Amino acid sequence: MEKILVLDFGGQYNQLIARRVRDNNVYAEILPYTTDIEVIKNNNYKGIIFTGGPNSVFDMSSPHYSKDILDLGIPILGICYGCQLICWMENGEVSTAPISEYGKIKITSKKSELFKDIPKESIVWMSHTDYISKPPKGYKVVATTENCPVAAMENTNKNIYAVQFHPEVTHTEYGNQLLKNFLYNICKCDGTWIMDNFIENTINKLKKEIGNKKVILGLSGGVDSSVAAALISKAVGKQLTCVFVDHGLMRKDEGDFVEKTFKSLFKMNFIRVNCEDVFLKKLHGIIDPEEKRKIIGTEFFKVFWNEIRNQKEKGYFAQGTIYPDCIESGKGKAAVIKTHHNKVNIPEDVEFLGIIEPLKDLFKDEVRKVGEKLNLPKELVWRQPFPGPGLGIRIIGEITKERIRLLQDADAILRDEMQKNGYEKNLSQFFCALPNVKTVGVMGDHRTYDNLLIIRAITTDDFMTADWAKIPYDILQTVSNRITNECPGINRVVYDITSKPPATVEYE
Ligand code: XMP
Repeated sequence: MEKILVLDFGGQYNQLIARRVRDNNVYAEILPYTTDIEVIKNNNYKGIIFTGGPNSVFDMSSPHYSKDILDLGIPILGICYGCQLICWMENGEVSTAPISEYGKIKITSKKSELFKDIPKESIVWMSHTDYISKPPKGYKVVATTENCPVAAMENTNKNIYAVQFHPEVTHTEYGNQLLKNFLYNICKCDGTWIMDNFIENTINKLKKEIGNKKVILGLSGGVDSSVAAALISKAVGKQLTCVFVDHGLMRKDEGDFVEKTFKSLFKMNFIRVNCEDVFLKKLHGIIDPEEKRKIIGTEFFKVFWNEIRNQKEKGYFAQGTIYPDCIESGKGKAAVIKTHHNKVNIPEDVEFLGIIEPLKDLFKDEVRKVGEKLNLPKELVWRQPFPGPGLGIRIIGEITKERIRLLQDADAILRDEMQKNGYEKNLSQFFCALPNVKTVGVMGDHRTYDNLLIIRAITTDDFMTADWAKIPYDILQTVSNRITNECPGINRVVYDITSKPPATVEYE
């Protein structure tokens, strides 16, 4: 398989670069800048992209790489910090720019393979304080801006290209064309990374690997584990058993939906372990968010491992790990490291033949594409993210059966109205939260003293930052009316108008 390496120097857009490459039907993988050059040599990459980074190349504690990489004969594209790094490695001059550029900037480009089919003047997204003041020997400047004398440079003999701006963000008008030029004209890729091929290849691989053995998969009902289940089921049918641990902290009727989908639609071997009471007992009196998370996580796997211990035959353990769960991030000081929530420790007495993770090379949107191609229900494929600890971290204060029901009922009304109004697709995530607050109200002629409910809705590309969603007032009004009328115990509804940061998406 042809592959592009995205060498990660700790920039915030490294995953986006890999996704953009893959959107052009070329497989890309991200490796940290600490990767040994021998690994790179042995991987037959068709091209390498140096990402941006939060540091300055002058600072010797910032990520650097052996100059030898420039002599491997593999085409290279440096982006932002990656561009400055190439200049620095090749003895050009990098200095602090007299005027930093940030945001949309006009560039003027010259004839170059990298700028093929891109107008001479176009808009790019810049974000830098250092710049190249003098290109290295052998490098030709192929784009400039008003304040940046080297917005792009190239050494066609060595097949090395570098851009100060970010072609991977959508604000760069012709960013995709530039990446395409690099992939197809410079790296000579064929573009064979297509989801249909992925499905067929993966099913064949799974058949071979699993043979006539059994597979057990922990199903949460989320997109990743559902798509993994569908793929494995296509490969080995009834040899697969899905175990669904229902901790009782799912949204209203969600457990039944998951069960129905997998049992009737896919005719899979499906075990649903209902353990709401066990979880409630463990969570009794607990109000600290971290403690709640810990208890829910620990109990979840306890139930799951027990179920596996009960299986008569030893088999493979499958899970829906996806690529972002596996990436070892840049490790630079400012690099963001996501919690590897799918990477669980398996107890010693739980034995498997091996671990199967068929989606470990895919990004979320690719997983959804696979789900669609496998004809999974749209509600499943396009499901919003739902945190592992479920409603447990949306109930502030103690979790009781009554409070779970109240939140489930209110949340179901919100979802119903959003769906009815076709507003569901415009938002990244929306839900209700139940704080531990009671307020005075009036109903008929009576004073009430009941629960306050919060509605939270956000839009985001990556969940690292988020905007609160501007839901039309009339929808909010209907939701509020319905909740206060149909959910006894709630007499006030408020709408959360906080972005992330400073708030997080979830409440705990
Ligand atoms: P925060 O609250 O960190 O949420 O702004 C960002 C995104 O992550 C989801 N989230 C979780 N997902 N386990 C998960 O699988 C968790 O413990 C967890 N906590 C938050 C959250 O729903 C949002 O999409």
